[in-house]
Amino acid sequence: MTFDRSVKIAPSILAADFADFGREIEAVEAQGADWIHVDVMDGHFVPNLTFGPPLVKAIRKHIKTVMDVHLMISPVDPYIDAFADAGADVLTAHVEAGPHIHRTLQAIRGAGMKAGLALNPGTSVEVAAPLLDLCDLVCVMTVNPGFGGQSFIMSQLTQIKQLREMIGDRPIHIEIDGGVDPVTAPLVRAVGADVLVAGSAVFKGGSVADPAPYGENICAIRAAAG
Ligand code: DX5
Ligand code: ZN
Repeated sequence: MTFDRSVKIAPSILAADFADFGREIEAVEAQGADWIHVDVMDGHFVPNLTFGPPLVKAIRKHIKTVMDVHLMISPVDPYIDAFADAGADVLTAHVEAGPHIHRTLQAIRGAGMKAGLALNPGTSVEVAAPLLDLCDLVCVMTVNPGFGGQSFIMSQLTQIKQLREMIGDRPIHIEIDGGVDPVTAPLVRAVGADVLVAGSAVFKGGSVADPAPYGENICAIRAAAG
């Protein structure tokens, strides 16, 4: 992974066919996805359950781009090695998930992955200030995590702008997760985001058998982001 601030579209497989992840991933990559966003939920930190390290490891061989794993779990630290073994390129943990996020970010890098820090909408981006030198990515949630298909929280635009100023020249990606579509993509791009996660807005209207809509949806988000 080389660092740049170009727009990267990261389809979230939360909106894919859960019984066919391998072919869904291959379809969205063939249709122009830059990264693949993988949402891990534990039914405790967020009110929903998805899957764990064995599934993440199983889909790794279908991903040619970047496997971007978003942990919505608490605790995080006991599972870091398992996600490294599963082949995560980026491993993102929530600041709200435990009392020792500094240690968690160190451990993620120590296990050979890029370290991501995720912030819920109810958390001020100022908490990231003492952690930025341990981060390769900061994920600003623009919905409350747990489910796809929710409405984008507009007030997060001010926070993203503030984060972009805090980051300055440091090689840290700003990722936006939740409610990203052709309407909201230009808004987050304008305030400094580069990785745009999109679930429903990418997968709507298409399927493994008919993947062209995935490509049209990705192009529409990318074109809108500029
Ligand atoms: C939400 C997840 C998101 C979700 C986004 O908790 O972290 O990655 O899949 O879905 P959309 O793009 O539909 O808001
Ligand atoms: Zn996510």
